[in-house]
Amino acid sequence: MSPQGRKIAIVGGTGTVGSVTLPALLAKNVHTITAISRGDSTATFPDGCIVKKGSYEDEDFLVSALQGQDVLVIQLSRFAMDAQAPLTRAAVKAGVKYILPTEFGSDIEALQMVEEQLPLRGKAERRKLVEELGGTWIAVVNNPWFDWSMNQGLWGIDIKARKATLYGGGNTKINTSTLKRVGEGVAELLSLPEEELAAYKNKAFYISSFYVTQREMLESVQRVTGTTDKDWVIEDKEIAQVAKESDEEVKKGNMMAMIPKFYSAHFREGYGGDFNHKLNLEKFGLAEEDIDAVVKGIIASSS
Ligand SMILES: NC(=O)c1ccc[n+]([C@@H]2O[C@H](COP(=O)([O-])OP(=O)(O)OC[C@H]3O[C@@H](n4cnc5c(N)ncnc54)[C@H](OP(=O)(O)O)[C@@H]3O)[C@@H](O)[C@H]2O)c1
Repeated sequence: MSPQGRKIAIVGGTGTVGSVTLPALLAKNVHTITAISRGDSTATFPDGCIVKKGSYEDEDFLVSALQGQDVLVIQLSRFAMDAQAPLTRAAVKAGVKYILPTEFGSDIEALQMVEEQLPLRGKAERRKLVEELGGTWIAVVNNPWFDWSMNQGLWGIDIKARKATLYGGGNTKINTSTLKRVGEGVAELLSLPEEELAAYKNKAFYISSFYVTQREMLESVQRVTGTTDKDWVIEDKEIAQVAKESDEEVKKGNMMAMIPKFYSAHFREGYGGDFNHKLNLEKFGLAEEDIDAVVKGIIASSS
């Protein structure tokens, strides 16, 4: 299938996920890419893309930057969510066909999860705004990024300290994606022929690198580090207990305590962590990645 070229604008193209998405889109060699960035940003962009810098409070700037674009990919910092509404308004006004809002996370169809997690409720509101304005969104769902999260111990596995907290036994399979895979997946999606891309209108597009349990993540780390359970401090915690402890800490003002509740929730039945049955990546040749190779890379880059 030959890729369909599009005019694609991207916001946040040098950020964590942007810095894998923008090169993947450029590598397709069929798209015309415009990077939109704040006027005072120090970001520099790769050759091959048009750069438009300006204020997101200036609607004329945004509408003119977005005029003629087929797609707007919004990969804004999660601390800059206020910028999403003016970008959305301008995109709809400029007639942009598809908006990929700042999703790139958990399953939008897991309604209980969305209800319980404040940032996910915000994402749902931002999708709703696109629809209310008469625009079309596609939500990229990839779950917590595997490598980014492992690097920070967010899967409950602290590689340096050799401590692991397994949620509810650690044997529930979920999907998770490397950052590289997210970039590749977005590039594949946005290179689909029009009738195939249109099938994702106001729907989710699912990306995954691994279908794994927390135990299997730990086993991979152990293979790569040449360790076994006896070298690790491993505790098992009920997911409800993790949530309770998180809530208590958040009440005391420790907002970072939300993180274990968020991550462990992906291992709860019905909370959307397992979206394996919703994947359709074979058609793009995006097979499961080699988890040990990825873990090796994480350890090498952090040492
Ligand atoms: N699945 C996961 O594990 C996971 C983890 C984190 C985030 N996410 C999702 O991915 C999205 C992108 O996150 P990221 O970590 O890639 O973002 P990021 O690297 O923190 O930031 C992306 C870009 O946002 C722009 N930005 C920063 N501060 C801003 C401000 N005050 N006003 C306007 N723009 C600002 C910057 O672009 P310029 O300098 O070019 O303006 C920056 O490069 C998030 O919104 C979230 O939905 C998912």
